Amino acid sequence: MPSKHIISIANQKGGVAKTTTTAYLGAALSRLHRKVLLIDSDPQANLTYSLELNDEQKEHAQDNSLATIYESGGSLTDCILAIRDNLHLVPASPDLVMTEVALDTSPETLSGRPECILSDALKPVVANYDYILIDCPPSQGMLTLNALCASNWIVIPTMASVISLTGLERMLEQVHEIVHGEPSLNEDLKILGVLITRFRKDRTVEVELEQRLRTLEEDFAVFRTVIPDRSQFELMGELQAHTGRHLVDLSMVSYSLLPYLTLAMELEKMLSQKQPAKKGV
Ligand SMILES: Nc1ncnc2c1ncn2[C@@H]1O[C@H](COP(=O)(O)OP(=O)(O)O)[C@@H](O)[C@H]1O
Ligand SMILES: [Mg+2]
Repeated sequence: MPSKHIISIANQKGGVAKTTTTAYLGAALSRLHRKVLLIDSDPQANLTYSLELNDEQKEHAQDNSLATIYESGGSLTDCILAIRDNLHLVPASPDLVMTEVALDTSPETLSGRPECILSDALKPVVANYDYILIDCPPSQGMLTLNALCASNWIVIPTMASVISLTGLERMLEQVHEIVHGEPSLNEDLKILGVLITRFRKDRTVEVELEQRLRTLEEDFAVFRTVIPDRSQFELMGELQAHTGRHLVDLSMVSYSLLPYLTLAMELEKMLSQKQPAKKGV
């Protein structure tokens, strides 16, 4: 295995499948026998809620979430929950809203560098995992900045829509600032790739935007793997019973997991060839 990969799943645009990608990509990598830690860094805690924690884990998560680390500098190890073999989670809690407000408005009250809190907290656990995936909130605030400062890679999910591509541009700008700013906040951050999600091949506009995105590959890689919109399974007559809940189905029969297994293999190949997407950023 190559050295540890800490990957932020980020895009300031909401609804582009960041959380879904974090959960399923993590599950897919764990199916490939990689040790994976998921970090829920969004105050909405969608990742935490979408993974089915048992009652004991829910209770534990209330006092041992990522917010605890930011607020009192506790040990990240105390927050880690085992979701299944090789798939662990640092949960979020709604308290993270206040954490972000505190970090954004009065970072000077914190000792040290406020953008490095997560990076420092990860140090003792990094060696235990092959992959650490960080689910970022839909903003460019301090929680996202902490995630990007702790990561060596970023995966940017985007939908093939004009408005989502605007979010992509902003994300590229933020990464550029972090890497090349004076001073650089994280010289190691590289774009692994842009991931097209919720893709509907029956929509001409989406097909055209996908093609347009691929012409920009001089600047950043676009994963070959495209995540189809779930409605596509329906079109193929393959839809499994859809509960309508925002829960991720990590079983091997899950149609949602399948494209992420392909993505996980593509991602591992990219990393092993050390051919990151980034060129112009
Ligand atoms: N491939 C997909 N097909 C259809 N709906 C999807 C797909 N991926 C995610 N979604 C849905 O889109 C919404 C936003 O996804 P989410 O992962 O929460 O995005 P984000 O974290 O970027 O806000 C959720 O309701 C989720 O269930
Ligand atoms: Mg989310």
